[in-house]
Amino acid sequence: MLFVVLMGGPGAGKGTQARKLQESLGIPQVASGDLFREHLNNETELGKLAHRYIDMGELVPDDVTFEMVRERLLYQDCARGAILDGFPRTTAQAEALDSFLSEMQDPVIIAPNIHLPSEVLLRRLSGRLTCKKCGHVFHIEFGPPEVPGICDFDGSPLYQREDDNEQTQRRRIQVYYDQTTPLLNYYRRRELLVEINGDQPMEAVHRDLVEAIHNAIEVNATN
Ligand code: AP5
Ligand code: ZN
Repeated sequence: MLFVVLMGGPGAGKGTQARKLQESLGIPQVASGDLFREHLNNETELGKLAHRYIDMGELVPDDVTFEMVRERLLYQDCARGAILDGFPRTTAQAEALDSFLSEMQDPVIIAPNIHLPSEVLLRRLSGRLTCKKCGHVFHIEFGPPEVPGICDFDGSPLYQREDDNEQTQRRRIQVYYDQTTPLLNYYRRRELLVEINGDQPMEAVHRDLVEAIHNAIEVNATN
């Protein structure tokens, strides 16, 4: 089983890369933010709870977040592993994930950190457009759709995420530095962290990620 724990600040390109990796690796993307937005759209109790935090750019409490991700990881399509996008985000979440993975048979775990300066994160977030139907993300400047405002893949309208206003973006970046960057050391100490330069074209980031993941699989096989 292979678990890719994609780290990186808001707008670092986790979602973009997770979607590409799904195809190269044949394991699904499990994105906590997308799962929350699905609950929000379906107006579930969890969606209503999460909305309050997402709107402010704060983290949703660890217990409900872990329970939601754990349930998703039990689906049949995760039988060979998953690409975790946006989870874990706190040490408590990482510990809960570790104890869940310790019950799996010989999981290979790698934590690539897509790093970018915060001013680039802001530019990435402020130009992002998301498809209402398929969730594909575009960027006004760095990856625009062929027809403005319309998804290239299914013709659906594109929208700007509610938490992509400037105030919430800045708060999300701050929360990332305060609460999530300590996790980098957590994975570094366990020799699972690999630094990936996120400030390059999407294809180059993808290439570096695939190389790092294949190295991790090889090292694991020889141990
Ligand atoms: P979440 O949905 O996870 O948002 P995020 O971490 O802020 O990450 P984003 O989705 O904003 O960015 P991304 O890194 O995926 O970048 P993308 O690929 O879109 O979380 C939202 C909220 O949910 C949180 O604030 C919190 O409240 C809650 N939440 C979620 N998980 C939680 C957890 N575990 N615990 C507690 N609360 C949680 O790319 C950004 C833009 O850049 C796009 O427009 C893209 O086209 C463009 N782009 C991407 N790569 C490149 C490139 N190489 N060059 C140029 N442009 C690029
Ligand atoms: Zn679409």
